[in-house]
Amino acid sequence: MQNYKCTVKALAAPDEQLHQEKHFALSECGTVDPSALAPGEVLLRLYAASVDPAFRASMRAVPLEKYMLQPYAVGACVKSFAISKVVASNADNVKVGTLVGGGFNVADWQLYSVCEEGKLPPVLSPPEGVPATCFLGAAGMPGIAALLPIRELYQKQEQEQSDGYVDFTGKTALVTGAAGAVGSLAVQLLKDLGMRVVGCAGSDEKVEFVKELGAEACWNYKTITDPAAALAELAPDGIDLFFDNVGGSILDAALKHMNKHGTILACGAISEYDGAAQPLNNWFYITINRLHVHGFIASDFFAGGAVQAAIPELAARIADGSLKAKETIVSGKFEDGVLPQAFCGLFTGANTGKMIISIEE
Ligand SMILES: NC(=O)c1ccc[n+]([C@@H]2O[C@H](COP(=O)([O-])OP(=O)(O)OC[C@H]3O[C@@H](n4cnc5c(N)ncnc54)[C@H](OP(=O)(O)O)[C@@H]3O)[C@@H](O)[C@H]2O)c1
Repeated sequence: MQNYKCTVKALAAPDEQLHQEKHFALSECGTVDPSALAPGEVLLRLYAASVDPAFRASMRAVPLEKYMLQPYAVGACVKSFAISKVVASNADNVKVGTLVGGGFNVADWQLYSVCEEGKLPPVLSPPEGVPATCFLGAAGMPGIAALLPIRELYQKQEQEQSDGYVDFTGKTALVTGAAGAVGSLAVQLLKDLGMRVVGCAGSDEKVEFVKELGAEACWNYKTITDPAAALAELAPDGIDLFFDNVGGSILDAALKHMNKHGTILACGAISEYDGAAQPLNNWFYITINRLHVHGFIASDFFAGGAVQAAIPELAARIADGSLKAKETIVSGKFEDGVLPQAFCGLFTGANTGKMIISIEE
């Protein structure tokens, strides 16, 4: 069987958009022979891959100082969170058809790989009715990035109250990137707390989707280009909690619109990943509005076992229908470049919910 890999052809300048042909290279990398597996070895085929905005940092010619992801070397194999399928096995305890990976398990963008039984990523066993791909989305890293910072904030505020009682009911939350993997979950989790949720997203269809998730209001930032005016209209009582996925001009407007002692959960700033950084003119409103700004990285929550506990919790909520886990599944052949194409698509809004790439047989 012919094997293929996707490598880095060139890194992108900080203000440059990522392009499939310019920045990625697909090549043949030998053949694999299932009958040649040594005892204890299995043959894995890439089954589904996640594309995540954070991995854009690995394609950046200039490193982001102190960030967990540093640039690839040119020629290196691209990586992402992924699920692989066992397609041949010479290990007694590993059956053909088993799915492994998901969560924070990273795989090379290489169609086939040989793995020793002892080094296999965890076997996936999704609850009935839930696709295995949920472990790349709502019950994977994006689910953790939405659930655990919101929970941590809630618990911290509980501890600060003398009677241990905290009430978010009726307070206003803003979620940017509200139709995406993390944003669509944040909308639902903040609704669970009784908040009035306002979102923004990049198309009218996405705006409708965000409202279906429970948001009271949502605007299309591509057609309504004045975020201050949108916030004045849709969040007339100000913002108490801002879950920010986008940064840039919407963050700038929101700083001014925050209520006193409000909190910003700074999840990401995708508007600045695939183009030039944008100035913040309203930084002083952090002081004026006495804001709490909390930046976090999903993997921070491994401490204390929170991630390990939250993954089955999220999967159970998807199974019982209390959490909607929308996925945009892009199917295609590895050798046709479906992975880099989908990765670039993140930055043009090609997905609603979690973008998953299903590798065709
Ligand atoms: N801190 C953490 O640990 C952590 C973990 C996961 C994700 N994140 C961050 O959370 C954010 C969302 O990630 P995700 O995985 O959920 O991705 P996603 O939202 O599912 O996909 C990216 C979406 O971002 C929007 N977008 C792209 N360029 C934009 C721009 N210039 N301005 C505004 N919106 C833009 C697009 O939707 P529209 O059509 O709405 O524009 C696109 O569909 C990212 O900033 C990511 O880095 C952080």
